Amino acid sequence: MSGRAGGPREPSVTAPAAIAPVDMRRTMGRFTTGVAVVTTVTEGELHGMTVNSLTSVSLDPPILLVCFNHGARTADAVLAAGTFAVSVLSSRQEPIAWRFASRGEDHFSGLPVEYGKHDVPVVPNALAHAECLVHSHQVVGDHLVVFGQVKRLCDRDGLPLAFLGGKFGDFRDRGHDPFEWFA
Ligand SMILES: Cc1cc2nc3c(=O)[nH]c(=O)nc-3n(C[C@H](O)[C@H](O)[C@H](O)COP(=O)(O)O)c2cc1C
Repeated sequence: MSGRAGGPREPSVTAPAAIAPVDMRRTMGRFTTGVAVVTTVTEGELHGMTVNSLTSVSLDPPILLVCFNHGARTADAVLAAGTFAVSVLSSRQEPIAWRFASRGEDHFSGLPVEYGKHDVPVVPNALAHAECLVHSHQVVGDHLVVFGQVKRLCDRDGLPLAFLGGKFGDFRDRGHDPFEWFA
């Protein structure tokens, strides 16, 4: 960085200022997402957790990803099982999101569970389910990114549960037709 001729030099920036995790979370929290529950089963024990890091990666072949915080027990179970499902929650399923976001509880206690074709548990009445085999996984920063090869999909109409700025909310569409590429 150059200073004005003859004037005091401005401090040169040799590295970008460190981005604090709290700033990263707050800023990316402006990006509205849906809410999903990742579920799996290992040795007969059910595991599940709420996520909003679900992303479609590839259409052909069909691959999605989920990012797990280090220490998320469900991540260990997903890797051990080699299979998992994601259930996209409807606007009526906020209690399910709270349930699967709390630590140290039996997330499935009293919850009717359905099984997909690949013997993975799924959340009943969700807007969509994707049953996956673990395609690959990679540690990136403080998260584990798990890629899932989608083996079965199902979806139905309904309103989603949305998440913005650390709070649940509702999605309201603006009434136009879907884009033509969204067939
Ligand atoms: C809306 C919402 C989205 C979340 N998204 C994620 C996520 O994408 N990845 C993650 O690791 N934790 C996420 N969490 C936190 C986990 O749900 C929470 O830590 C959970 O208790 C982990 O469960 P487990 O350790 O039993 O697997 C989210 C929580 C909420 C409420």
